[in-house]
This record gives sequence, structure tokens and C-alpha cells, in this order.
Amino acid sequence: MPDLSPAEAAKDAAARAAIALVQDGMRLGLGTGSTAVFMVHRLAERVRAEGLRLRCAATSRATCDLAESLGLRIEELDEIGWLDLTIDGADEIDPDLNLIKGGGGAHLREKITAAASDRMVVVADPTKVVEQLGAFHLPVEVIPFGMQTTRTHIQRLLDSLELSRRPMLLRQRDGQLFRTDEGNVILDLSLEAIPECEALAAGLSAIPGVVEHGLFLGMCDLALIGSPDGRVIEM
Ligand code: 5RP
Repeated sequence: MPDLSPAEAAKDAAARAAIALVQDGMRLGLGTGSTAVFMVHRLAERVRAEGLRLRCAATSRATCDLAESLGLRIEELDEIGWLDLTIDGADEIDPDLNLIKGGGGAHLREKITAAASDRMVVVADPTKVVEQLGAFHLPVEVIPFGMQTTRTHIQRLLDSLELSRRPMLLRQRDGQLFRTDEGNVILDLSLEAIPECEALAAGLSAIPGVVEHGLFLGMCDLALIGSPDGRVIEM
């Protein structure tokens, strides 16, 4: 791919390293986001060059459309049943490979797909590696019905955990209310730091109206961090 910016070159390096893990006959989950776009391109290249026979499920309509436009056949996750490997991006990665995801609003399907995979590999550039999760907003997908009461429950939870009182934002895109592939909306929580990820994750999951949050705890097996010069660090 010619004329990549340094940031794009780092994403592409991580993507190439991840696609090197793909073997003939594998069942793959394809993630969402700008790094995943490189991954899908590199996967399509390998399939064209080597005639790999793969079964692929996509974590979003956007990834499905991209993959199909590049000649990859996408199936429903339930048609495949279980996956060998899911490759996805992340918004933050901590030293224990816990993640924040959902910057692209696809974390619900991404989490279902990762949970149905023997292995989850994350591809990212070095800006995503953090000591502690939370500087990036935490996306929480909620059902539109009763959204204000769901919001109240979330605020009470944040107060009980002494997390930031900054307002949570209802995600917009292009001046419109953002809707997920499932037709839900996203509340973005500005927390600055999340010292107790497990308590927050469990608390959010217990709130009626919360469909899924962007904390991926204990799900990632390997993170491949690309550099603009093409080197890749394994975490
Ligand atoms: C989408 C995601 C993405 O994987 C995450 O936002 C990273 O995206 P990018 O590679 O564009 O930085 O979780 O829901």
C-alpha cells in the first residue's frame, strides 16, 4: 500500500503480523475500525495469492461490506458456530491485555464474536497501549427504551465506585443520534481512569437497559503493536 502516513504504517504492520497467523481452513472473526480495515485488506491479499479456504464472520456491517467488496465471503456467526481466531482493534490496551473497545460503536458484536473464538488477537498502533484503562471514553450500548432511567442507574453506579462525575455523552455522528448495528444508542462515559475494572464491568452488566459495555476483560490473548517502521511488538 503506497503513501501510508506513519500512523497508518503502524496499523498496517500490526495487521500484517496478525494475518501471518492465519492458516488454511481457519474460521475467522473480523473486527471493526481503521486498524481492522488494514487487516481485512491484508487478509484478502493472502486469500487471493494463496487460495486459502477460510470461513469468516464480520463484527459489523461496515466490515462485512468491506470484506465482500474485496472478494471475501462473509457468513453469519451462527452459520459457522465457533471461530478459531478473531482479529480486532482496540481503543486502549493495558499491561494485562484488558481492553477498552467500542470507539467505532461495534463492541457488542465484537464481544460476542471474541467470546465465540478460541483466540482473540488485537492489532493496534503504540498510542493504544496504556498503563491503566480509562483515559479513552468507555462506550456503553443501551436500549433506547427507558434510556434516561438507565442513565440514572449508570450514574449511581459511577458515584458508588467514586468514578468521575463528568456528564456521560449520548453519542452523535454527523449531527445525528448514532445508532448501532442493533439499533441501540451509545453513552460514552468520561472516567479518566478505571482503577477497578471488574467492579465497573459487573455493575454495568447488571443494569437493565445496558446491552453491553466496552470493557473487554480477560478476553484478549495477544496484542500486536505495530510501529511506523514496520516493526511489531508482541504483548
Ligand atoms: C470498534 C472498535 C475498534 O476496534 C476500536 O475503536 C479501534 O479502532 P481503530 O483501529 O480505528 O483505532 O472497538 O467498535
